[in-house]
Amino acid sequence: MTGPFLIEPLVGAHDRRTFDSGNAALDRYFREQVTQDIRRRLTNCFVALDPEARLAGYYTLSAASLPVTALSADEVKRLPRYPLLPAGLIGRLAVDQKFRGQGLGGALIVDAIDRAMRAEPAIFTLIVEAKDDGAASFYRHYGFRPLASRPLSFFLPLAEAARQLKTR
Ligand SMILES: CC(C)(COP(=O)(O)OP(=O)(O)OC[C@H]1O[C@@H](n2cnc3c(N)ncnc32)[C@H](O)[C@@H]1OP(=O)(O)O)[C@@H](O)C(=O)NCCC(=O)NCCS
Repeated sequence: MTGPFLIEPLVGAHDRRTFDSGNAALDRYFREQVTQDIRRRLTNCFVALDPEARLAGYYTLSAASLPVTALSADEVKRLPRYPLLPAGLIGRLAVDQKFRGQGLGGALIVDAIDRAMRAEPAIFTLIVEAKDDGAASFYRHYGFRPLASRPLSFFLPLAEAARQLKTR
């Protein structure tokens, strides 16, 4: 799924200066702020490199919690009555315009699923905040479902994600 791309944690040697996803806010955050957030333990950041070590995409992943009230009554029926569910937040995700449409966005999501599955504190679900309708279609395409309480916020329970990946 990762194809020719290598996905690894962001380090200082990665050249972020020319990264261009077409979304100015996501590019600025990546160039100017993410390392400070990593230092403060607010997030981790993982990057995709092409075979020439060009930076093709990134995403951030942090611990979060999801109020059970954000889920539909149908989802809640299948869960114990805990008020908060442990979650992994994909805070930002972007692919450089040169690398679009090759499944790299999907590979970044699979990488996030994999890291969340391996995390020692248990994570029930990934959550994401889609910036617009395009991003929402992208997350739906990969199996995320909208939260009942917030239509541009999506979730994907990890057990479900693991099953989907196995059947591919
Ligand atoms: C959204 C984004 C990450 C997709 O990256 P990508 O590597 O091109 O994604 P993929 O190749 O894995 O896309 C797979 C599918 O997602 C859907 N998709 C991707 N981008 C989409 C968009 N902008 N609008 C609607 N659907 C989209 C398509 O259905 C695509 O399926 P296809 O291959 O059958 O056409 C990229 O366009 C991007 O960085 N956009 C700017 C930032 C952004 O919106 N980030 C989202 C988080 S807020």
